[in-house]
Amino acid sequence: MTFERDNIARMQGYSYGEQPDRPTMVKLNTNENPYPPSPRVGAALQGFDPARLRIYPNAVASNFCTAAAQLNGVGTDNVMATNGGDEALRLAITTFVDPGATFGSVVPSYSLYPVLAGVQDCNTVEIPLDDNFSWPENLAQQLNAADTRLTCIVNPHAPSGLLTDAATIMQLANDLDGVLLVDEAYINFVDPASGHNLAPRVLDTDNLLILRSMSKGYSLAGLRFGYLLGHTGLIKPMLEKTRDSYNVDGLAQVLAEAALTDTDYSANNWRTICASRDALREQLLTMGFSVPVSQGNYLLAQTSIKHAASAKQLLEGLRERDIFVRYFADLPDRLRITVGTETENAALLAALRSLLD
Ligand SMILES: Cc1ncc(COP(=O)(O)O)c(C=O)c1O
Repeated sequence: MTFERDNIARMQGYSYGEQPDRPTMVKLNTNENPYPPSPRVGAALQGFDPARLRIYPNAVASNFCTAAAQLNGVGTDNVMATNGGDEALRLAITTFVDPGATFGSVVPSYSLYPVLAGVQDCNTVEIPLDDNFSWPENLAQQLNAADTRLTCIVNPHAPSGLLTDAATIMQLANDLDGVLLVDEAYINFVDPASGHNLAPRVLDTDNLLILRSMSKGYSLAGLRFGYLLGHTGLIKPMLEKTRDSYNVDGLAQVLAEAALTDTDYSANNWRTICASRDALREQLLTMGFSVPVSQGNYLLAQTSIKHAASAKQLLEGLRERDIFVRYFADLPDRLRITVGTETENAALLAALRSLLD
């Protein structure tokens, strides 16, 4: 006897990356930031009066949204705070895709998308990327042919780190009949010299949503805070109808705002991680891995036939050394490696060398 709805009984849940918690481990499996959040977060935490928890928080996280609007050059009514980027995805799917209608994405991509589509009982169309993780030229036509109501594209792409330029994304938004959600969970690790910035385009593009996460760039994965930028016509129904009342808690609002407004600290942190990422990639290349250029805080390393061990064996060997990286069954010859501190990256490289010897 099951009480689940049919579609819930049929679907698989999300597979989390392991979350071991030992001080000695090297955790490079879930794209967390290896550095602590801004000291202003600690100060805000210490200065937070627990008596404030007696009352409900600001219902729409006004202070955070004002700061996010300023940072991104949009209006406050173009911003909505969410309980992690994951809540933003759930809200977009439940607001814009009817049960039985079609949700679109590319594969490989963030494996939570089809899970959330399954909860909403909608169909999923997954357009395969090519061997270099690029879209097919007729992506919009394929998605329109499937009558897709909402498409999620992660940019920089996960798990490869490939960045699609703003003009190509905007062309897709213009060509699509439905809503385009650009998942920018890793946008902070894009080279600032590229000038890549989609945010202001939500003002004049009525089917464009942009997801931001405070988990990666701002070292707040444990807090659960993200936000959406979007045309007011898209933000309004989520803000006023589909989100939970008080969806982001009062303490989280204060801490997320403290992190978001310390731009010097964050930018310095991103520069360090990007430099470590590029150095780590060079080392992996010299060890015979193929590794696409990444604009995220992770690298996707592909083993070659010359290697003495498969990706799965390397995963296990690293785990025995208390080093965690991510393996995806649908990319069986690759490991996704989060960029860690210099010490963590060196430990990873040393372990890989010994496993491959
Ligand atoms: C591509 C992508 N989008 C969104 C998220 C959601 O991040 P969070 O809910 O921690 O803000 C993640 C988390 O790993 C991700 O990898």
